[in-house]
Amino acid sequence: MIAIAILAAGRGTRMKSDLPKVLHELGGRSLVERVLQSCQEIEISRRLVIVGYRGELVKQSLMESQEIPENPDFPPLEFVEQTEQLGTGHAIQQLLPHLKGFPGDLLVLNGDVPLLRAETIKQLMAIHQQHKNSATILTANLPNPQGYGRVFTDSQNFVQQIVEDRDCTTAQKKNQRINAGVYCFHWPHLEKILPDLKADNDQKEYYLTDTVSILSPVMAVDVEDYQEILGINDRKHLATASDILQARVKDKWMKAGVTLIDPNSITIDDTVELQPDVVIEPQTHLRGKTSIASGSRIGPGSLIENSQIKENVTVLYSVISDSTVSENSRIGPYAHLRGHAQIGANCRVGNFVELKNTQIGDRTNVAHLSYLGDATLGEKVNIGAGTITANYDGKNKHKTQIGDRTKIGANSVLVAPITVGEDVTVAAGSAVTEDVPDDCLVIARSRQVIKPGWKLKDRNKELGL
Ligand code: UD1
Ligand code: CA
Repeated sequence: MIAIAILAAGRGTRMKSDLPKVLHELGGRSLVERVLQSCQEIEISRRLVIVGYRGELVKQSLMESQEIPENPDFPPLEFVEQTEQLGTGHAIQQLLPHLKGFPGDLLVLNGDVPLLRAETIKQLMAIHQQHKNSATILTANLPNPQGYGRVFTDSQNFVQQIVEDRDCTTAQKKNQRINAGVYCFHWPHLEKILPDLKADNDQKEYYLTDTVSILSPVMAVDVEDYQEILGINDRKHLATASDILQARVKDKWMKAGVTLIDPNSITIDDTVELQPDVVIEPQTHLRGKTSIASGSRIGPGSLIENSQIKENVTVLYSVISDSTVSENSRIGPYAHLRGHAQIGANCRVGNFVELKNTQIGDRTNVAHLSYLGDATLGEKVNIGAGTITANYDGKNKHKTQIGDRTKIGANSVLVAPITVGEDVTVAAGSAVTEDVPDDCLVIARSRQVIKPGWKLKDRNKELGL
């Protein structure tokens, strides 16, 4: 039986932020969400998260994060409060009433170690169980171990002591083997000694790491790729983690048949799905739950978030959020799709067009300089340059409907709520305020007046100037 506990109570002073450190985002997910995710491949019977600094916020964020309810096999999250943050040992002491008599192992993870692979956790647990250790800890040999606790072992590789960087002597600092902040304890053993921890160190905190000197046997397991165990303490670490994550994600997609042109200028969240033969051009950013199907070419200079792009679409210098684009459509340059816009197949949404909560049927074009909000357009509609749906009356939003094959002349305004039928032609420059039936021409503007022989100076005379 395995319980996991995630340490997420600290503020993270070195981040210089009001936001709890574990809620800082990395590639579309919070640090703590990533830590939870790294435990996905082991069978867990309890999941405890220790919260403190702005605990409600941490709790809320984890409950809302989409990953958590996704897997019904996981037990619910239990939140344990650490009202004062007196150290990592003190944090685990808060579990005592909750895990009283729990017979299994407790996997403890720092909430600020977001790059761990599920495979690594699995290995750590396997070694722990195979050797029936009292504790097994994840370690790494770092070229620059500064800031981490140093792990000291005896000749048989059993851990004797972990000394925090700030408590190390100059000689101890030379030890490059560090504590990753990931531990597996046999809970009945840990439970017994937890109350005995002393805050006998530079920070006057109760250190979880002191337990390894009391327990036995304690084994250290070195991680293969030390990038995995990077602990995030400040913004520089966050940037480094982001680089590592980006490299991982891009590697994966290039191997899967995606072309990235100038990969360093591109960012891709690891929540994004790409199909083979997608091409991502420079300065493009793909975020959240976005998917892009084969043959599509995105960028340069585009931002796509939480959107679905179907096959053979091109997106050029555009921003698309929470929207879908169907096959063979061309978006941009300089289009903005947002608020659940849905573009049909073989459409063209062009230069300087903004679409909000608007559905567009197949083969419909909105090619230049338009704003369509809360509108539904049929198939083969043509929207002339500069068309605007006036969807907001100062208080409420209203809908516009436009039927199949209708043509809206350039520079028209459609004052919603309004329905324009099928096969309608709206004359350029119209202000359409009333519903229009099928099969007709609408001219909703004042007629042009021509005054023969009229001259500017005559007019001045008329006015007595
Ligand atoms: C800790 C380890 C260090 C290890 C490093 C790995 C200790 C004493 N030291 O140091 O050996 O090399 O992680 O990254 O454990 N937290 C609480 N309550 C508290 C204090 C901290 O929940 O009272 C949480 C923090 O929110 C954080 C985690 O514990 O998620 C680690 O705390 P942090 O202060 O970052 O520890 P380090 O100094 O990095
Ligand atoms: Ca840390």
